[in-house]
Amino acid sequence: MAFITKQFTRTLCSSAARNTAIKHITVIGGGLMGSGITQVAATTGHSVVLVDTSEDILKKSTKGIEGSLKRVVKKKFADNPEAGEQFVQKVLKNISTSTDVTSVVKKTDLVVEAIVENLKVKQDLFSALDKAAPEHTIFASNTSSLPVAAIAGSTARLDRFGGLHFFNPVPMMKLVEVVQAPGTSQQTFDALFDFSKALGKHPVSCKDTPGFLVNRLLVPYMMEAIRLHERGHGSKEDIDVAMKLGAGYPMGPFELLDYVGLDTSKFIIDGWNEMEPDNPLFAPSVLLNKLVAEGKLGKKTGEGFYKYK
Ligand code: CAA
Ligand code: NAD
Repeated sequence: MAFITKQFTRTLCSSAARNTAIKHITVIGGGLMGSGITQVAATTGHSVVLVDTSEDILKKSTKGIEGSLKRVVKKKFADNPEAGEQFVQKVLKNISTSTDVTSVVKKTDLVVEAIVENLKVKQDLFSALDKAAPEHTIFASNTSSLPVAAIAGSTARLDRFGGLHFFNPVPMMKLVEVVQAPGTSQQTFDALFDFSKALGKHPVSCKDTPGFLVNRLLVPYMMEAIRLHERGHGSKEDIDVAMKLGAGYPMGPFELLDYVGLDTSKFIIDGWNEMEPDNPLFAPSVLLNKLVAEGKLGKKTGEGFYKYK
């Protein structure tokens, strides 16, 4: 009985601590992922500051979030559009924007970084944030492919640093990979795991290994699709249809590459190729490199493997 009471008290205490733990969030990077993370966090009642490098980008991000929220409420409030509009406005009230990251983090419980997939750029950002953020603030990176420990190494808070890997489109994809780097404390890992649940997501636990779980499987698959096409073994259209109708995937690999962003896909594969040059799964692609050099980065720029309106 005493044990049960102790357990119950401990559960109550820890859930109270969790409930008060992460309320104010700073999301850095207002692109595909940062906008989605901001939207989901604001929808679940968190107060979010979205940071990017210019007011113009932030305006575009806010417009994108509003558009995505409207898609969500169109279904959720199909019978009551007025309540839907009120919901959108309520969520938007939880979001503010800024270009001044070091002053914003002074009042934040959690930083979620979703900027360009480049180790040095991420390290420079976190090194500056480390000096500005309060002791209790947890840092998390949404990196797709970089070692969380290498990013965390630019700070003096290895214990309060973890990976929080969301999936695109964030409002629709249920999974979050919560990454425990060697230095991440159990308390930080638990806080990130609970935060993911508070967002209505399904967290899974990951070690700090290249690509964690999903991308370690998904990225070589997408690269192999490009190589299949480069070898002349199938058109991109046929490969896409084949994987949708033959394997039940919602998108074919070329559609998904365009959706993820060809720049991000190239950053991932180049990084892994540098790390393991002899691994054929991580071999770069001439076609992918050519499209990126031409600024054809996928859906976000209007053209990648396909053209978009
Ligand atoms: N915001 C809000 N709602 C959205 C949305 C968004 N961005 N995208 C889709 N939806 C919702 C809407 O309700 C939409 O209905 P409306 O068209 O009426 O607005 C509904 O989803 C259906 O969408 P679509 O008709 O456009 O298409 P769909 O049925 O194919 O679903 C999809 C879209 C959910 C994106 C689906 O195609 C899918 O699951 N694709 C695979 C995505 C995937 O694999 N993501 C992982 C990428 S890898 C990654 O993220 C990790 C990394 O590090 C690179
Ligand atoms: P994106 O190109 O759409 O957006 C990146 C944003 O970061 C841009 O708006 C850019 O202006 C901003 N930015 C760059 N440097 C900055 C800085 N120093 N300070 C503030 N803002 C800065 O990229 P994305 O697709 O959203 O990817 C962001 C991160 O999320 C990457 O690490 C990527 O690997 C990861 N990720 C991407 C996907 C995907 O499907 N695209 C999925 C999961 C994780």
